[in-house]
Formats: sequence, structure tokens, C-alpha cells
Amino acid sequence: MLENSKEYWNNGYWEDNIKNNKTDFMKDNWMEKYSEKIMKVVPKKAVDLGCGIGQDTKWLLDKGFDVISCDISDIALNKLKELISSSKTMQIDVKEKLPFEDNSIGLINANLSIHYFDMNTYNKNI
Ligand SMILES: C[S@@+](CC[C@H](N)C(=O)[O-])C[C@H]1O[C@@H](n2cnc3c(N)ncnc32)[C@H](O)[C@@H]1O
Repeated sequence: MLENSKEYWNNGYWEDNIKNNKTDFMKDNWMEKYSEKIMKVVPKKAVDLGCGIGQDTKWLLDKGFDVISCDISDIALNKLKELISSSKTMQIDVKEKLPFEDNSIGLINANLSIHYFDMNTYNKNI
């Protein structure tokens, strides 16, 4: 199973993590140390790529960003919706062209989520 496939993240990771409540990482407030820079971003519209169950989405929403939370895993996105019902989610594969218009997004966050590809895939799409 490839580490950038839906099966891997749905069945090999999120299903187990959610079932066993392994969500400690949600408490990692790593974005806070970049807060000053991030708060200067305009427009205040963010895309959270490979958002998982929304650790960084939540931080960005709390800071007033309009956030589109994207992930390949529908299991993660459903859990995110359960945790933050107002969140805007989109199921996408980041190996494909991203469906956003140039200049419409002020910030793209991709924490621990776009290093699962070989360099050819990475250079072609990201
Ligand atoms: C280690 S988790 C990180 C989740 C979140 N960014 C965080 O920091 O808690 C990696 C995430 O990337 C997503 N992912 C992996 N490959 C992907 C792909 N090809 N397209 C979209 N999302 C992908 C996984 O489903 C998973 O939610």
C-alpha cells in the first residue's frame, strides 16, 4: 500500500487512530511560534493540505482565517466535520492539480503531508 494512497491513510492510519482515540498530536500548538508572520497574510484565506482531523485547521480558524481543509482520507475529513461542524472540507489527492485559483489563497499549510511522494511527482504538482 502506497503511503500517499487513500487506502493507506484510511485503513492503515485514521481508522485505527480514531477508533483508539490516538489524538494527542492535536495538542501540538506548533503554529503559534509563527503567529506574527501568519497574521500578516492577506487574503485571510487558507488551504490546509493533508489536514487530517484538523489540528492546524482549528488553529487557523481560531485566528480568523477562512480555511479549506483538504485531505485524501474521507475518514479523517468526516472526523474533522464531527469536531468542527462549520469546517469546509474537500476530499482531494494532492498528487493531482489543486482546484484553487491563483491569488485567491493567502496561505497554504501542509504539515507532515506532502513528503510521501517521489521527486518526479513532487516537482510536477507542487
Ligand atoms: C501525518 S498526517 C498529518 C495530518 C495533519 N496535517 C496534522 O499535522 O495533524 C498526513 C495527512 O496527509 C494526508 N495525505 C497523505 N497523502 C495524501 C494525498 N495524496 N492527498 C491528500 N492528502 C494526503 C493523510 O490522509 C493524512 O491526513
